[in-house]
Amino acid sequence: MKNFKRTLITSALPYANGPVHIGHLAGVYVPADIYARYLRLKGEEVAFIGGSDEHGVPITLKAKKEGITPQDVVDKYHGMIKTSFEKFGISFDVYSRTSAKIHHETASEIFKTLYDKGAFIEQTSEQFYDEEANQFLADRYITGTCPKCNFEKAYGDQCESCGSTLNATDLIDPKSVLSGNKPIMKQTKHWFLPLDQYEPWLREWILESHKEWKPNVYGQCKSWIDGGLNPRAVTRDLDWGIPVPIPGEEGKVLYVWFDAPIGYISATKEWTSDWTKWWKDPETRLVHFIGKDNIVFHCIIFPAVLKAEGSYILPDNVPANEFLNLEGDKISTSRNWAVWLHEYLEDFPGKEDVLKYTLTANAPETKDNDFTWKDFQTRNNSELVAIFGNFVNRTLVLTDKYYNGEVPETGILTDYDRQTLSEITSLKTEVEKSIETYHFREALKNAMDMARLGNKYLADMEPWKVVKSNPERVKTIMNTALQITANLTIVFEPFLPFTTEKLRGFMNLNKLDWKELGRTDLIAAGHKINTPELLFEKIEDEAIQAQVDKLLATKRVNQLEQSKINPAKSDIEYEDFAKLDIRIGTIIAAEKVAKTKKLLKLTIDTGIDKRTVVSGIAEYFEPDKIIGQQVSILVNLAPKILKGIESQGMILMAENIDGSLVFVTPATTLKEGSEVR
Ligand code: 2FM
Ligand code: ZN
Repeated sequence: MKNFKRTLITSALPYANGPVHIGHLAGVYVPADIYARYLRLKGEEVAFIGGSDEHGVPITLKAKKEGITPQDVVDKYHGMIKTSFEKFGISFDVYSRTSAKIHHETASEIFKTLYDKGAFIEQTSEQFYDEEANQFLADRYITGTCPKCNFEKAYGDQCESCGSTLNATDLIDPKSVLSGNKPIMKQTKHWFLPLDQYEPWLREWILESHKEWKPNVYGQCKSWIDGGLNPRAVTRDLDWGIPVPIPGEEGKVLYVWFDAPIGYISATKEWTSDWTKWWKDPETRLVHFIGKDNIVFHCIIFPAVLKAEGSYILPDNVPANEFLNLEGDKISTSRNWAVWLHEYLEDFPGKEDVLKYTLTANAPETKDNDFTWKDFQTRNNSELVAIFGNFVNRTLVLTDKYYNGEVPETGILTDYDRQTLSEITSLKTEVEKSIETYHFREALKNAMDMARLGNKYLADMEPWKVVKSNPERVKTIMNTALQITANLTIVFEPFLPFTTEKLRGFMNLNKLDWKELGRTDLIAAGHKINTPELLFEKIEDEAIQAQVDKLLATKRVNQLEQSKINPAKSDIEYEDFAKLDIRIGTIIAAEKVAKTKKLLKLTIDTGIDKRTVVSGIAEYFEPDKIIGQQVSILVNLAPKILKGIESQGMILMAENIDGSLVFVTPATTLKEGSEVR
């Protein structure tokens, strides 16, 4: 493997069209932050770049929805996103934004260089155009019926119901989001990057020379390349974005996916005037942290742009993650199905590391994973509190109690002491190997094993039992436990920086470099620790239930919004209605119909007679709970045999929007046989 002088870490620029959620953290920012912190702790030269993606249709659509300008949208969310990242301790060296002047200049310059080199092809094609709004329609500005599943609100680029990737021209009955009108086709000129010409190079660079990339990333690249690459438009007809820097081409902007990754370069420029060493020196290792939906842009399109430009380095690795789901459902900004970071910070103040711990322990590194509040609670209570916290607390409390907070001298080590301490070195190697190959879950598990080791050591040694009989031995035990604790302040630093800071505070220790990890003399005898406090606290069921309830409420709102009220049926005459003989009756007996899931056999006192009705309500009602229930019954419906039982009439039911059924009953108890008309 090549040795590099420095590492440039980029993390996908989130769209500034909404706040950030746990999916963003788990997929991109937490792993990138762990990587950056780890390398810094090793004394390596690192730049960690972030920023907001402020162009493109997601922003203009949000502006339209909120009735504000795109600039208002990005100002609002850029601020929110930046604050959330700061509060979670994501240690960017710079967090910039693509509406910044330096970015407009940088992206224009790169476009112009490629244009001047003849790297683009100019093509005129037919695109959807809204004649009322006087504008070409980007894919997201067109909705229509999905040709694959008939969902009526599919977008021009994707159907959110069946997940198919679509072309706007595939949609049945396309409509403009702007006016609701049917768009026309109109000619427009754009610039395309001829990706097909880069195919042999991409094949060699990725498929031959980067076989070490994660299987999900390598596989996606291979399938794109094998599927045949086509020229990609790098400009759009839109009035929000970076204007195409060619005189006479006003009204067109750079495609957001052309300018966004260049944002990494402009942010670096904003951070340091010495930016070329980060982007143009082959001794710099470039690593892009992204989610899986961004793979093609970071592995194929952006590298092709950089290659065409000619003076930039290319990524050494792109450790893309899969997606994190929430309680079994896809996280969705539009359906508000997310745990928003700004809300978490309010609901769980001081517990930033707990969320980061859960998200790393359950990171979607190889497949989509699920975040559940129950798992979050268990990770906190059974791992952070019961293992890490318990060990540290016992060690510090006993040191305080036995030695008034002064680190005791160590005596002669037993084999068990020595073996325990040597495991720290093995675990150090494991953590390094895992982080350096982008296996952060595994790395965290290795770090946790160090805490586990300490916890087991104390539990096995039981110093509280021998402190009276063998005080010298207990000094050695406590010294060993304190050395392990000091090691924990190093090994957890990349993962749980707030916790390690707190722990250093308890121990009265300075921040230690990674190279010190594994040392068994990190704190000298006589060193005074501070009065211990708890490192983690238990999360109670009520706090978890409150979060689950919040999600249930969201689900109900979504159901309501999605529920379709059927349009009215065609008119009928009163005579038609008058044919229905509906009476108030009372259920006097009920039982399940054998071998069916849905049917109940009811006996109804209709006032006229007592008759049998078979009703499809078994999923909603227990037979013994509906005896005495008043109902409306259609008594002159022709009898019908159902499962061998003659059903004489029909009970009227109202169907709620969620599909559940309720009886149609009189507001007060009536005499059986009363007519409904
Ligand atoms: O998918 C997204 O959220 C994009 N805004 C990511 C852009 S990454 C980079 F290219 F800037
Ligand atoms: Zn569909």
